[in-house]
Amino acid sequence: MARSSPGTSRRHGRLRVLFTLLTVLAILTALVGGTQLAVPSKASAAGTTLLSQGKSATASSTENAGTPASAAVDGNTTTRWSSAFSDPQWIQVDLGASDTISQVVLQWETAYGKSFQIQTSPDAAVWTSIYSTTTGTGGTQTLNVTGTGRYIRLYGTARGTAWGYSLWEFQVYGTTGDTGGTCGPANAAQGRPATASSTENAMTPASAAFDGDTSTRWSSAFSDPQWVQVDLGSSQPICHVDLTWEAAFASAFQIQTSQDAATWTTVYSTTSGPGGTQSLNVTGTGRYVRMYGTARATPYGYSLWEFQVLTGTGTPPPPNCPWVGSAAPVATRVSQVIAAMNQSQKISLLHGVGGAYVGVVAPIPALCVPGLNLQDGPQGVGDGLGGVTQLPAPVAAAATWDTALENQYGATEGTEFAGKGVSVALGPTVNIVRDPRFGRAFETFSEDPYLAGQIAAANIQGIQSQGVMAQVKHAAVYNQETNRNSPADNAIVDNQTLQEIYLPAFNAAITKGNASSVMCSYSTINGTYACENPYILNTALYQQDAFTGFVTSDWGATHSTVASANSGLTMEMPGSGYFGTALSSAVTAGTVTTATLNTMVGRVLTKMFEFGLFDKAPSGSTGATVTTPAHVATARTVAEEGTVLLKNANSLLPLSTSTTHSIAVLGNDGGSGVQTSGGGSAGVSSSGTVSPLTGITNRAGSGVTVSYEAGTDAAGVTRAVNLAKASDVAIVFANYGESEGSDISNIDLPGNQNTLISSVAAANPKTIVVLNTGSAVTMPWLGSVAGVFENWYAGQEAGNAIAALLFGDANPSGKLPVTFPASLADVPAHTTAQWPGTNNQVQYSEGVDVGYRWYDSQNKTPLFPFGYGLSYTSFGFSNLSVGALSGNTSTVTATVTNTGTTAGAEVAQLYVGDPSSTGEPPKQLKGFVRVSLAPGQSQTVQFTVSSHDLAHWADSAGGWTTTSGAYQILVGDSSRNLPLTGTITVP
Ligand code: BGC
Repeated sequence: MARSSPGTSRRHGRLRVLFTLLTVLAILTALVGGTQLAVPSKASAAGTTLLSQGKSATASSTENAGTPASAAVDGNTTTRWSSAFSDPQWIQVDLGASDTISQVVLQWETAYGKSFQIQTSPDAAVWTSIYSTTTGTGGTQTLNVTGTGRYIRLYGTARGTAWGYSLWEFQVYGTTGDTGGTCGPANAAQGRPATASSTENAMTPASAAFDGDTSTRWSSAFSDPQWVQVDLGSSQPICHVDLTWEAAFASAFQIQTSQDAATWTTVYSTTSGPGGTQSLNVTGTGRYVRMYGTARATPYGYSLWEFQVLTGTGTPPPPNCPWVGSAAPVATRVSQVIAAMNQSQKISLLHGVGGAYVGVVAPIPALCVPGLNLQDGPQGVGDGLGGVTQLPAPVAAAATWDTALENQYGATEGTEFAGKGVSVALGPTVNIVRDPRFGRAFETFSEDPYLAGQIAAANIQGIQSQGVMAQVKHAAVYNQETNRNSPADNAIVDNQTLQEIYLPAFNAAITKGNASSVMCSYSTINGTYACENPYILNTALYQQDAFTGFVTSDWGATHSTVASANSGLTMEMPGSGYFGTALSSAVTAGTVTTATLNTMVGRVLTKMFEFGLFDKAPSGSTGATVTTPAHVATARTVAEEGTVLLKNANSLLPLSTSTTHSIAVLGNDGGSGVQTSGGGSAGVSSSGTVSPLTGITNRAGSGVTVSYEAGTDAAGVTRAVNLAKASDVAIVFANYGESEGSDISNIDLPGNQNTLISSVAAANPKTIVVLNTGSAVTMPWLGSVAGVFENWYAGQEAGNAIAALLFGDANPSGKLPVTFPASLADVPAHTTAQWPGTNNQVQYSEGVDVGYRWYDSQNKTPLFPFGYGLSYTSFGFSNLSVGALSGNTSTVTATVTNTGTTAGAEVAQLYVGDPSSTGEPPKQLKGFVRVSLAPGQSQTVQFTVSSHDLAHWADSAGGWTTTSGAYQILVGDSSRNLPLTGTITVP
């Protein structure tokens, strides 16, 4: 439907101005041209043909409407293309088919190029340089070259004058490779199903651009980006696209093709779209074709009368890529690819481009180099994708202390990532929970580097077992959200603390987990941003850990080009502000050497080869449903094993349906408002949440009355109290929320939840509290309730899992991976200078005394210690045997016995107490073993203590050092209950 829009009159006004300009320019051009030119216009080499004349030409810019790109290929030496007065600029011609190119003739106007390249490309996306100069002479330049390609361009980087680049003619000679393939003529898009990101109104649907009716149009909302796409019904070779713009056209847009409408390949891209009718030769294959607009030329939306797609030309000749399917060692294959790459191809692997995933690295089809799709992470497939399993929060997984289950958690994530087409999973998060207020405490593991490292390694092995790369994050010292990614989050931290607390989990992720990649953090560390911090990247990761993978910046955490590249950063995300053109210039200038560039590229290629990405066709798509009943079952098992029983007075738990006839489920978090995931990039969609109320009701069965009250206001508390009084048991569900982006200000339950719990406890002595928090929480009512669970954002199976624990179908076995302090005043970082910092500094002055190390060294009694967790059975520890150091290890064994009447699991924990002369914390976790035991059953658990476990970092000693003396070995079931003690003596 045509409209009489403001756009129509705007266009007429603009045309008048253009016409006047054109007239003036035509006169000027004729004057200048007339005095200047006597140039060859015929083939100059035997057997070659002038290939470029009359072909479609485009340019990075044009000085004005009188100097279009087409004027340089029109055979008329009095008309010219001329660019804007800036660098770089290019003009390119589409030869229509892949041709062999032997000569290029440039007929410069006065404004010539001093530094430029002649480049060829099969697809107008990836370019190969076949001629390069920095001493261009102007005049007529006849350049003998050797190259092949359908597209050929002059790419200018330094102008010889203050003006733009100006060419009377751009002539390309060679042998035609046109094999007579046909393109079109029928519009394959006409009448096909169409969709768009938006439509301006009901009169401008997507379908109107594909209806063959030039008086109806699609038009979008007035914002960027916007797209319109058509489904051709089957995958087809695409050779040409015609866009007929209404007045509201795109100045920057891409034409993209896709097999699945999820992953898109760009076949044409411009930032200087002229509007009107655009006739674009493209080379691509796909079932779907779209116009993806990123900048509108007018304040209105994007508006297309027609969008035609021609198909039929044969696909381009297959590239020659001997490194694909090759049996040569990875290092050889990497060298082969690097040797074949030009600089822009190399740089294209080192930064993100837009796409269907949170991070996308573009493929290089000419070299068969696959692209990379990066997606959050770290508790399953995030970033809003549906059809996935919402696993319990990573802190819940850490609370299992079960590396086999964590491996299964990782494998579950890995298959779901693979099914979604993800090549790099952005996780696990291994940052230390330095303080319980950290807004991302839920998505990381622990206050202890050893536990975090072991769980991380198991998680990574699981993810990577499915062919998906894991990206461990965020290196390093990223422990608060306040002031993140700004110089004000400047952690002042000594080397010993870095090496003993903040780096070991990355070391384990790399050396034991074999993580493909690391994400550097938003933090500033001792005055230098993490992503350009040579101590964190080059020294710790690449030298100390012998890392062979790549480092990706957190999104927006790249802050420089040269310093970052030289410090060990490999890849900028999500865009190319520092690692695109700026990196190219730095390499050209020599401030980043070619050797460094090749090292960076090699790191990415190495992992691509190791993960088989060159040898398998990409599969998976964002729209796929990847959750399965087995994955949901894993989510439930992790929720059951990770939930920690903190109190069970008089063995009230487990509940029995023979003695419990009525249950009051209370609290907003017990009903449909249950929080099953933290927020931010780690948030994962649920494919079907079971609330505690539903889980308990289903498990309790018809013989038990289950009632519910949220109790969110005073009247609600009264109703809750009345329900509690009338019920055998009251279960209060309480939570605080955590999300990336901000820290929480305190660790008390917010709102009226403490009042609700105290009031209910006063009404019914059989009150059980289920806490649902991302880290430690205070419990002012602890003495008056019978039972307490910590449930940590337990994922979509939360309700079934807590019901199984309450009724004893599952025996609690989780152990706290973080200390629960009695109050915030007791935490290690208790001053403002430490948290969240003052005067643009965050003082990590507690040093290595993080978590239980602090409470132990200060003799502070926590509310619940690190490693603590109850069971419905009891365990005994006996028979400690500590072997002498032999080689670099000592073998420690102990017996764990189930001394109760119920089957259950216990986690035997081994701590080392260094000689006091070292100044190290009183004890540090160096081993744990989880065992499942039948009633009365005993099992020997074995730990290997290495000499590194006994070492500490001393700058004065130049690194890790082991002091002579007696090292205490302590074994038990929490950091504060270690009944077995022995000694290892270091001579
Ligand atoms: C987060 C990362 C995440 C990235 C991509 C950042 O804000 O810090 O953990 O992977 O966004 O979503």
